[in-house]
Amino acid sequence: MDAREMKIKAAEAALVHVEYGMRLGIGTGSTAEEFVRLLAEKVAAGFRVEGVPTSERTARLCVELGVPLKSLDELPQLDLTIDGADEVDAGLRLIKGGGGALLREKIVAAASTRMIVIADESKLVDTLGAFALPIEVNPFGLVSTRMAIEKTASRLGLTGELKLRQSGDGEFTTDGGHLIIDASFGRIPDAEALSRELNSIPGVVEHGLFINMAALAIIAGPAGARTLQANR
Ligand code: A5P
Repeated sequence: MDAREMKIKAAEAALVHVEYGMRLGIGTGSTAEEFVRLLAEKVAAGFRVEGVPTSERTARLCVELGVPLKSLDELPQLDLTIDGADEVDAGLRLIKGGGGALLREKIVAAASTRMIVIADESKLVDTLGAFALPIEVNPFGLVSTRMAIEKTASRLGLTGELKLRQSGDGEFTTDGGHLIIDASFGRIPDAEALSRELNSIPGVVEHGLFINMAALAIIAGPAGARTLQANR
């Protein structure tokens, strides 16, 4: 089974949790896109759902495939969000933002009663941090913000390259008009502390640590999909 097939398996298993008439947060990335494709088939067959996309990219795919969309302001409370992740640990702490949509993803997940993460088993880790942590920053004061991130990280014993994300000829810009610094810490033993500290830096708009947000992770491997539950 290749990676795409595993993503489809995870997406199929997530679809079982989607009920008729639900207000649904729809994630971003290649795994979430497999979910959108499957959802669109159900919608075409008469299933009713209202989706709130977590990125312009997801919105475009939903429109193309006929999944009905609303804005988060029209549907400020959602029943369920289904989204991918770059890393998942056993406590269902996540790193997200590899696709640059972490701010909207976090806002949408926080507005949802439940969040389910879908991923292939390559995303499952013992300790977060091998995937560079995306940190969304305001372009104003970029150099100061970057220095503050460095200082904060080093107080927590974290070092590693902080790289401004590029796209084509220039800087990568998020849907919200911000920049992303990818922080290669290698290992983040205390994700809660890092999350708190990053949130206290004024130029940091959001970061890709999702803690206490996912209720369930559906992880697909060659033998099929299994479910990890948050114990809280
Ligand atoms: C988008 O910003 C990310 O948070 C994605 O959810 C994450 O990068 C997973 O993407 P893939 O499903 O493409 O691996």
